[in-house]
Amino acid sequence: MTRRTLVIGATSAVAAEVAKLCASRGDRLYLVARNPVKLQALLTELGDAVVGHETADLDDFDRAPAIVRQAIAALGGLDRALIAHGYLGDQDRSESDFAYTCRILDTNFRSAVALLMPLADHFEAQGKGHLAAITSVAGERGRPRNYTYGAAKGALTRYLQGLRSRLYRSGARVHNIKLGPVPTPMSEGHPQNFLWGEKRRVARGIVKAMERRWHTVYLPGHWALVMTVVRALPEFVFQRFGFLAGR
Ligand SMILES: NC(=O)c1ccc[n+]([C@@H]2O[C@H](COP(=O)([O-])OP(=O)(O)OC[C@H]3O[C@@H](n4cnc5c(N)ncnc54)[C@H](OP(=O)(O)O)[C@@H]3O)[C@@H](O)[C@H]2O)c1
Repeated sequence: MTRRTLVIGATSAVAAEVAKLCASRGDRLYLVARNPVKLQALLTELGDAVVGHETADLDDFDRAPAIVRQAIAALGGLDRALIAHGYLGDQDRSESDFAYTCRILDTNFRSAVALLMPLADHFEAQGKGHLAAITSVAGERGRPRNYTYGAAKGALTRYLQGLRSRLYRSGARVHNIKLGPVPTPMSEGHPQNFLWGEKRRVARGIVKAMERRWHTVYLPGHWALVMTVVRALPEFVFQRFGFLAGR
């Protein structure tokens, strides 16, 4: 079955793997990304699977409705959409520079909402389809290491939760992809351990989540267990162990 798939933030290391996987399964793709050089390289790799593309700084919220409209027109409809862009930013700087804090919040939350609104209208009217966004385990509990980014991803999680209920009766599905750490440009220089994922496996998990209609998925899967513990720990325990609160 040929699916019409929109990938936003398509040149992210994880999203590019999703696009490659979808292309290998016969999807027709529309890609949106900020970096024209990276986008061109991906277009070359994907060839005829891509029927349209656009470069956009997604912090330019006003463009979101037109981006979605153009994607739907180029694809001749839309079956799946993935919102994948994100910005970790510098936590230290975000603690003293409010404009910078707003940039982290805007890229990870407001820009996603600007896209989710027209996408939700499309899927609701259509009465079917899959709308997914990548959030983060960082959104589950505030930690000194990344709480500005985590706050934005946590807000996006709540937004997706509400949107899922709004669209449920229509038949359209909303998916929250909660990623644990994965080696990509975003996490470059961060010390890795056995809990880290791998981008191709994570991409397979994202596609599977949409196909199996899972509304929330942790990738890699072991983060579901880790976060159950992290969420349940009482505050006094969390504060006592520096490696949990983490800085
Ligand atoms: N890697 C991890 O450890 C990890 C963990 C949890 C969640 N996540 C989430 O996973 C998703 C994919 O990230 P990744 O790991 O694949 O990292 P990545 O390769 O660094 O990708 C991040 C992408 O976001 C794009 N982006 C950032 N701000 C943008 C803006 N204003 N407009 C348009 N595009 C923008 C970047 O574009 P440019 O190329 O132009 O910079 C880049 O393509 C993100 O939502 C991220 O928050 C990642």
